[in-house]
Amino acid sequence: MKILRRSLLAAALLTPALSAFAAPLVMGFSQVGAESEWRTANTASVKAAAKEAGITLKFADAQQKQENQVKAIRSYIAQKVDVIAFSPVVESGWDTVLKEAKAAGIPVILTDRAVKVADPSLYVTFIGSDFVEEGRKAGKWVLERAAKAPGGALNIVELQGTVGSAPAIDRKKGFEEVIKANAKLQIIRSQSGEFTRAKGKEVMESFLKQRDKKIDILFAHNDDMAIGAIQAIEEAGLKPGQDIAIVSIDGVRGAFEAMKAGKLNVTVECNPLLGPQLMQLAKDIVAKKPVEKRITVTEGVYTADVAAKELPNRKY
Ligand code: AHR
Repeated sequence: MKILRRSLLAAALLTPALSAFAAPLVMGFSQVGAESEWRTANTASVKAAAKEAGITLKFADAQQKQENQVKAIRSYIAQKVDVIAFSPVVESGWDTVLKEAKAAGIPVILTDRAVKVADPSLYVTFIGSDFVEEGRKAGKWVLERAAKAPGGALNIVELQGTVGSAPAIDRKKGFEEVIKANAKLQIIRSQSGEFTRAKGKEVMESFLKQRDKKIDILFAHNDDMAIGAIQAIEEAGLKPGQDIAIVSIDGVRGAFEAMKAGKLNVTVECNPLLGPQLMQLAKDIVAKKPVEKRITVTEGVYTADVAAKELPNRKY
């Protein structure tokens, strides 16, 4: 009886200490927006992984506006969260707010997109795809197609992502780096479709209206813009995937459906399911364990001939 009473007393004394120790880690996450199928899958992955990891997630959708992200980060600093994670809409303009986070002693994790800052110690780590490599992969597919195509110039139109964003800058760079190996490949028009279906369709319509040059290939920086452009091509009485070959990036289910229907030729994978790794990183950082400064994701390339077989395996 005495022993039982003693252990109850000990448990009562320990409880406040234990519960303080077990307080869930709090993460403030600023998301770019909800502009694409990819982004929806990324948000779902982050939310599900936080729940699974027992991390309290404070989530804000910035609607593709940097000012909203800056506001969200400042509010997370004021709330004294344990860690801040964000996917920056554009690359530049983050120095001031990241200095504020550092001064408050709150570690910052970049997910999906990179920033350009003078002092790299303003963030702890960056987890996301290698966008330059994705552009190169798209370029390689075009280069191989051009090698088999008889005749002269092959005219390319490009639908760029959000102006100033890391994926738009890097994918363009990687693609151009590769296609310059064949002089018959020329980008005749290039404009931002803001990573959305609606804008992708609108810009493709304007490309198609300029009838001075035939369009042979479309390079879209993401699947959503390619899907919007497919609609525009069909409405113009042309066959997407045949009259105009289409290469895009992401590998979302919608792209596999378009490939299965013969309307899209190839998609380069960009994996949005970063949630579980992000949560593990947050725990490690808060526990002061060392983490890599740059963590990349392994990804593939899928062509239309494998689309039907791959579609049931797609997780996003
Ligand atoms: O940053 C990743 C990119 O952002 C995806 O390719 C695109 O679909 C999204 O909007």
